[in-house]
Amino acid sequence: METLCFTPTSSPQHLKSHHTSSSTSVPSLIRPLVFKDYNNPKKNINLRNQQYCKAILTNPAEVTSFKPSPLPSPFETTPLHEPSQDNSHELRKVLPETLEYESGFLGSVPKKFAGDDGNGIPQTMMSYLTRILTSKVYDVAIESPLDYASKLSNKLGVHLWLKREDLQPVFSFKLRGAYNMMAKLSSEQLDRGVICSSAGNHAQGVALSARKLGCTAVIVMPITTPEIKWKTVESLGATVVLVGESYDEAQSYALQRAKDEGLIFVHPFDHPDVIAGQGTVGMEILRQIQGPLHAIFVPVGGGGLIAGIASYVKSIRPEVKIIGVELSDANAMALSLHHGERVVLERVGGFADGMAVKKVGEETFRLCRELMDGVVLVNRDAICASIKDMFEQKRSILEPAGAAAIAGAEAYCKYYGLKGENVVAITSGANMNFDRLRLVSQLADVGRRREGFLATFVPEKCGSFKLVCELVGPMNIIEISYRFDDKKQEGLILYSVSFHTISELEGMLDRMKLAQLQTINLTDKELIKDHMEFLVGGRSNVENEILCRLFFPERPGALMKFLNAFSPLWNITLFHYSGQGETGANALVGFQVASSEIDKFKGLADTLGYDYAFETTNETLQLLLH
Ligand SMILES: Cc1ncc(COP(=O)(O)O)c(C=O)c1O
Repeated sequence: METLCFTPTSSPQHLKSHHTSSSTSVPSLIRPLVFKDYNNPKKNINLRNQQYCKAILTNPAEVTSFKPSPLPSPFETTPLHEPSQDNSHELRKVLPETLEYESGFLGSVPKKFAGDDGNGIPQTMMSYLTRILTSKVYDVAIESPLDYASKLSNKLGVHLWLKREDLQPVFSFKLRGAYNMMAKLSSEQLDRGVICSSAGNHAQGVALSARKLGCTAVIVMPITTPEIKWKTVESLGATVVLVGESYDEAQSYALQRAKDEGLIFVHPFDHPDVIAGQGTVGMEILRQIQGPLHAIFVPVGGGGLIAGIASYVKSIRPEVKIIGVELSDANAMALSLHHGERVVLERVGGFADGMAVKKVGEETFRLCRELMDGVVLVNRDAICASIKDMFEQKRSILEPAGAAAIAGAEAYCKYYGLKGENVVAITSGANMNFDRLRLVSQLADVGRRREGFLATFVPEKCGSFKLVCELVGPMNIIEISYRFDDKKQEGLILYSVSFHTISELEGMLDRMKLAQLQTINLTDKELIKDHMEFLVGGRSNVENEILCRLFFPERPGALMKFLNAFSPLWNITLFHYSGQGETGANALVGFQVASSEIDKFKGLADTLGYDYAFETTNETLQLLLH
């Protein structure tokens, strides 16, 4: 294993983000959708009245299934486009929260081109079909089982099938694409060796494929990669190089090294043979389930898996919906489909590392905008609940990205009241980092709506704490924190409770109201939940205080780099750090910054290179902190 210091040579110039001014009409929608105006965070825009949002809102019955034009003969196939390497600087930058819709809703339905518009899609599909049918994945991958999820099926009233890609040799589907691409290299190319950048499942897929094909493999990983991950890759015979603080830096290094040393770069998703390898998952599903099939739910990162599955399934059974599942804070595909062009996320949530991708691929997007039926968004809690369901049913532990499709399928079936249909969810991976199980089990009950987070304001006097405990009543308190402060009139109690039905929680909120104890339900507020323990006793009025949410990379020295940049220039008035596993940590930080210095502050924050967002006007934080 080598460790290198690496600084990217140029920083990309980004185009300014702006709202689309299309006047696409919005077909009938089931529930109003909220689009946030980020210049004015208090204002939510109801899409019914807006002209500028391009999201097409439909219910499944209204979605027009893709009908391919007659396929040309195999001899007419056009050569597949080879993706260019990095053009992020040409893409529009957007924030994940600029597109929000309810979990389960089928949003970002692509506007399909009618027939062959010169984009070459039918020819491309034919070419992909051929590539998938002749793919070599079975030298290393298994035909994974399609398992019936009986308990979840009963609960939802549908027939839910799980395509068990978590049972592949390296515990994810990524092996298929990597091997398919590498097995097609010439012996001269294999002699040169391959290189890739990945801290996750792709790395293992490339390493195992290289061992099978007898070539050398260099795997470039960010220096933050946990030992267990790089050791696993090394044990498969690859050379691991730890470089850069982020995935982007590791990728720039790998691309440069591929160029300098003539190594073959194995892209994690944006290459026709990688896409075709992943497409074999779709081929197997159609072999395994021959009756009516409503939809296949696919987790989306860069889009390789869904593009491959869609290419196959839409060629053979175009009536089957191909639905992408993304996390609300890692929604690069949903936003790209929504804008009708590839965009790059200004920041991406790292909870499900396989899906934490800032921009989808060029080729994957070209296929997805034609072949996908839309995207369902889910949150962390729902994914954790699905990990728990899978554990209870099959005694298998999925990683977050591996469980996302179950969460998406469940949310969609509930949202549209689907009954009696067959639906498939791809359980795409099981490389769960053991350290994260605590967070997952904590959030799982929230996802199932069995745990609520609350804050109650009490007069600072004897008996207040006991009164709150009495009013919580028969509900089970999981955690509770309170600190008496005799200098204050009003104190704050933070607590979490478990409940069986939502009416129990509502009953408790009513009891608090009757006792005139203001209580806030924080259950859906991710930011507050992350920093909840800290908020106890944290109320004070600090002049010129600004609040920032910061995303720290998990690496030695990150905190000191931050402190050296800001302190003692500005007083740090509040600090809480909540580790999220290997992807880093969320921090909530307060600074005392005079208004004349705000621009200087922003300039410094931008150069620091950590993702951050201002939260000074966040209403709940205001209430809890002041
Ligand atoms: C377990 C898992 N699920 C889903 C994905 C997303 O796949 P893609 O990037 O092809 O969209 C990945 C990507 O690494 C993954 O590892």
